[in-house]
Amino acid sequence: MSADVHRIAVFGGVYSNHLALAAAITDARERGAQELYCLGDFGAFGPNPDKVFPLLVDADVKAMRGNYDDSIARGLDDCQCGYTDPRDNYFARLSYRYTYRKTSDRWRTWMGELPARLTLDRHGVRVLFCHGSPRQMNEFLWESATSTQFLTYLGREYEADVILGTHTGIHWQRRLPSGGVFANVGVLGRPANDGRTDVWYALVDIATASGGQPQTRVEFVPVAYDHERLAAEMREENLPAEFIETITTGWWTTCLEVLPAKERARGRF
Ligand SMILES: [Fe+2]
Repeated sequence: MSADVHRIAVFGGVYSNHLALAAAITDARERGAQELYCLGDFGAFGPNPDKVFPLLVDADVKAMRGNYDDSIARGLDDCQCGYTDPRDNYFARLSYRYTYRKTSDRWRTWMGELPARLTLDRHGVRVLFCHGSPRQMNEFLWESATSTQFLTYLGREYEADVILGTHTGIHWQRRLPSGGVFANVGVLGRPANDGRTDVWYALVDIATASGGQPQTRVEFVPVAYDHERLAAEMREENLPAEFIETITTGWWTTCLEVLPAKERARGRF
């Protein structure tokens, strides 16, 4: 990596997967990331949400608020996840109640003070970090359902060359005609519905722009972690067997109804 490249690691939803977060922090450092970012949704799905926050603070991860964190911090009744299907909502409610009960006041306050967006300006490249989309914290931007025209509009509207988000759970990227890029960085909390137990984050290299064109490279990195240990901890916490199955198989068993047909067809269920 040349000296004029600024390398950052960007983590999506952690969903209480403290083991994957710890593994990702180590991995990102080993790969030379100079800054670490996390785009929110620290809790949900996994066990013992309070274990996540000290890892973020100790590693100096620049963190922002996702819909889950916003709900927990403000004491809302639900996670604002944006599900419409009754089964999805049943699991979302169960998970939210557990996470709410297990998050201490100290970290609730901490989350409430986080920004809803972050920016980085390096080598003439403007990077905007958001949760769902720049215009809406819980907007799902799926690869099959998001036009290049719309992403170009967002870049223009929010004055960003590079937009990075999470929220959907599945990583993807698209190069824009402007020379910029949109990337969903994936999530650390659970596998990407691809039949492997690894989770994903993004390494983003920002280089000196030439001829006024932003130069950015986004690489998705799989993270192997002790998923059996996480599954055991989830069992101890009496979390749903459906959630544990996702961790041990790599296939989603819940929150499927929000997936567009194309993304759903890649999964098992
Ligand atoms: Fe989210």
